[in-house]
Amino acid sequence: MKEGRIIAILVIGLLGYLFSLYLHFIIDSKQSPILLKDQLATSNQLRFDVIGDFGEVHPLRSFPILPVQVVAESMSSHSLQDPIDMILTVGDNFYPKLVSSFDSTIFQVMEQVFALDGIHNKPWYLLYGNHDCYFKDDYGETLEKFYHNIFMPKCPWNMTVPVGEFKVAFTFLSCYLQCYGHIYNPRVQNQCRKENAMYNATNEYLWLETHLQEINQDPDVIWNFVFIHYPLFSVSAIDGDVETLKVHLFPLLKKYKVDVVFSGHNHNMQYLSSKKYVDGNEYFHQNDTDLCTGPFIVCNGENVICWDKNVTCPDGNGTCSDKFTWEDNSKLAVERKEVTYKKGEELHQVIMGASGANLDMVCKDSFSPMADLVFGLSDYGFSEVTLTENQLEIKYIHANTSEVVFKSTIFK
Ligand SMILES: *[C@@H]1O[C@H](CO)[C@@H](O)[C@H](O)[C@H]1NC(C)=O
Ligand SMILES: *[C@@H]1O[C@H](CO)[C@@H](O)[C@H](O)[C@H]1NC(C)=O
Ligand SMILES: *[C@@H]1O[C@H](CO)[C@@H](O)[C@H](O)[C@H]1NC(C)=O
Ligand SMILES: *[C@@H]1O[C@H](CO)[C@@H](O)[C@H](O)[C@H]1NC(C)=O
Ligand SMILES: *[C@@H]1O[C@H](CO)[C@@H](O)[C@H](O)[C@H]1NC(C)=O
Ligand SMILES: *[C@@H]1O[C@H](CO)[C@@H](O)[C@H](O)[C@H]1NC(C)=O
Repeated sequence: MKEGRIIAILVIGLLGYLFSLYLHFIIDSKQSPILLKDQLATSNQLRFDVIGDFGEVHPLRSFPILPVQVVAESMSSHSLQDPIDMILTVGDNFYPKLVSSFDSTIFQVMEQVFALDGIHNKPWYLLYGNHDCYFKDDYGETLEKFYHNIFMPKCPWNMTVPVGEFKVAFTFLSCYLQCYGHIYNPRVQNQCRKENAMYNATNEYLWLETHLQEINQDPDVIWNFVFIHYPLFSVSAIDGDVETLKVHLFPLLKKYKVDVVFSGHNHNMQYLSSKKYVDGNEYFHQNDTDLCTGPFIVCNGENVICWDKNVTCPDGNGTCSDKFTWEDNSKLAVERKEVTYKKGEELHQVIMGASGANLDMVCKDSFSPMADLVFGLSDYGFSEVTLTENQLEIKYIHANTSEVVFKSTIFK
């Protein structure tokens, strides 16, 4: 009896050992993100999609099709026409909260929702958002072992991608940087408290400054992008500007002439550009009393969201018929726009947090004192970025119609 048990333990131990060898084999043979360079070296153009706040498979509002699925299908159809090289995320990859690196939400999102032609086998670069960090600030290291196309290094990290004769710099900042400095917004304070992150923001800022200096000294780097989950500038319901980032991060992005900062966190699409990029170092605090809240009615002490004017309380005591609803909001904000800029004159802020989770309103009457709101829409979508040495084009694509609802072109 005893010997049988010893043999069983030995066999299990041996199997465990063999399995760990197998894992090492998978890890070692995995393409490194740096290998991507070889695929791009012959082309003089780079195209990638940006999505954010997307992995929600149980949204509050039941649509005929899961919103993230609508986004994935639109990405697929666009990529089949104009193939993309890769997909980058601005964080909050899986909702609401992972319980392990093997959480079924990850599999469902990566291998079912996005298992579509043109997007499935592209390299994916996943950024950490606050929801990712509620679980762990390094679970991407496990995901990288099990998904051949996922790259999710612990932040901060960077990659410099050669495209033909020039290079593009990508810098990915941590889920914790907004927690450095004086936080005014109690929601952000609470989010920082919940994050399971082992960062030292002082060190991250020191690293960033040295890194941006080096990027600036490389004459081959034409486009300089920073990815950080929380936006610097925003007019989203409840969470607007992130003051800590305006105080500490903005001066660095400005000094080293970063072209675009890509963020999510607000579940909508916004495009802002900081006209103050070249004008002095003044700092302006956002008047957050101006920010809007989503429309709701109170039924029996509970908030019920006004998706459209037909929503009423079950007991008939309360109706959305006289409210400005979600439906009104998304209709109102759709305006086709095309804008052009000259490189180096402004810092461009892309907010693409509308790729699958419950939407946040854009407060169109509010205002971000250090930037202009150029476009805002509270509906599902993604961004498609196409760049050559001489121009950068950022399209905002509305998932449900697959139409380009906004386009910004920055000329060198
Ligand atoms: C997409 O459009 C259809 C038809 O108008 C609508 O029924 C559906 O709710 C929309 N889905 C999303 C995710 O907005
Ligand atoms: C990261 O940036 C540094 C400059 O700070 C550069 O030397 C290095 O090659 C970059 N890393 C990658 C992986 O491209
Ligand atoms: C972060 O690193 C700096 C040195 O770079 C150190 O002075 C500081 O004490 C560290 N903070 C924490 C919370 O560990
Ligand atoms: C902020 O909003 C308050 C209340 O609406 C207003 O009294 C105040 O003048 C505003 N401050 C700025 C700087 O806009
Ligand atoms: C709201 O109710 C009216 C009347 O019953 C109906 O015609 C309309 O389609 C409904 N709208 C929605 C969004 O359900
Ligand atoms: C209905 O609404 C009124 C006014 O808000 C409130 O006084 C009353 O208690 C509500 N009745 C029920 C059944 O909730």
